[in-house]
Parts: sequence; structure tokens; C-alpha cells
Amino acid sequence: MKGTRKKERNMKALVFAVVLIAVPLLVYSQSRTTSSVERGKYIVESVAMCGHCHTPRNGSGELIMSQWLNGAAVPVKAPAQFRSWAEYAPRIAGLTQFTDEQALRLLTGGISRTGTPLRNPMPPYRMSREDAQDVVTYLKSLE
Ligand code: HEC
Repeated sequence: MKGTRKKERNMKALVFAVVLIAVPLLVYSQSRTTSSVERGKYIVESVAMCGHCHTPRNGSGELIMSQWLNGAAVPVKAPAQFRSWAEYAPRIAGLTQFTDEQALRLLTGGISRTGTPLRNPMPPYRMSREDAQDVVTYLKSLE
């Protein structure tokens, strides 16, 4: 009888300890997800300016925000000294063609899915892994 009660008490202490550890961890991981999306949005919109190439423009040259990151024609022709130049910046909203690892490799090392660098004018970003992860989390949160 005594042994059973002791076991029960130990069990309660264990459950209590697990809750004590798990709840803050859960709250932390969720706040991390939110802030990761927000930081990624900030980098995309205000630092790396991805939208300036990857979003189509209207007749006055303004970004069409309803088509944010939907892909757009590159509005400038290749300068003479650039041999490899892309004429289209593909859709990156949702980033459905990329695994996280592939996208991280692109943003931290400039190497695309096919194993080669992307063509100009896509900048060869050298983001930290943390920044790149936030950008990927944000892009994947888009429709
Ligand atoms: C100065 C214009 C420019 C900017 C700024 C730019 N890109 Fe690009 N991006 C391009 C072009 C052009 C391509 C196509 C390159 C090619 O076809 O080789 C491209 C390709 C890509 C691809 C490959 C897409 C695919 O389906 O293969 C990804 C992913 C990408 N860009 C993400 C980004 C992100 C994220 C940012 C901001 C952090 C960004 N780009 C900023 C022009 C740009």
C-alpha cells in the first residue's frame, strides 16, 4: 500500500516536471515561428528587395502588390559584359519547387537546385543560415 502511494507521488512529480519543461518550450517554439515569418518578411521586403525583380509591374512601373512575388520579366536587357543573363525572375511565393535544404543552399551559397549558380541579375546572396531560414519560412507561408 505504502509502495503504491509512493509510486503515485513519483508519477505526479514526473508529470509536473514534464509540464514545467514542455509548456515554456512550446510557447518559445511558437513565438519563434511567428517571429521567423516576420523577420523573413522584413528581409524580403526591406533588405534584399526580392519583390523588385520577382513581382510584376503595371504600365507606370509600380509593383502590382496583388501579384506579390508571382514572377516577372526582368525589365532590363543584359549589359554587354554579362554573358549569362536571365530574362525572367520566376515565382517564389510559396517556394513550392524547393525543399528547405535546396532553398537554404541557394540563399547561403548561391548554388541552385541544379548544382550551378543562378544567372544574373539574381544576386548571389550569402545570407547566414538563420536569415536564410527565416526567408524560406516566410516565402513558404505565402499562397
Ligand atoms: C535584381 C533582381 C533579383 C532580385 C533582387 C532577386 N532575384 Fe531571385 N531571381 C532573379 C532572376 C532573374 C532569377 C532567374 C535566374 C535564372 O533563371 O538563372 C531568379 C531566381 C530565383 C530563384 C530560383 C527560382 C527557380 O524556380 O528556380 C529563387 C528561389 C530566387 N530567385 C529567390 C530570390 C529571393 C529569396 C530574393 C530576395 C532575398 C531574390 N530572389 C532577389 C532576380 C532577382
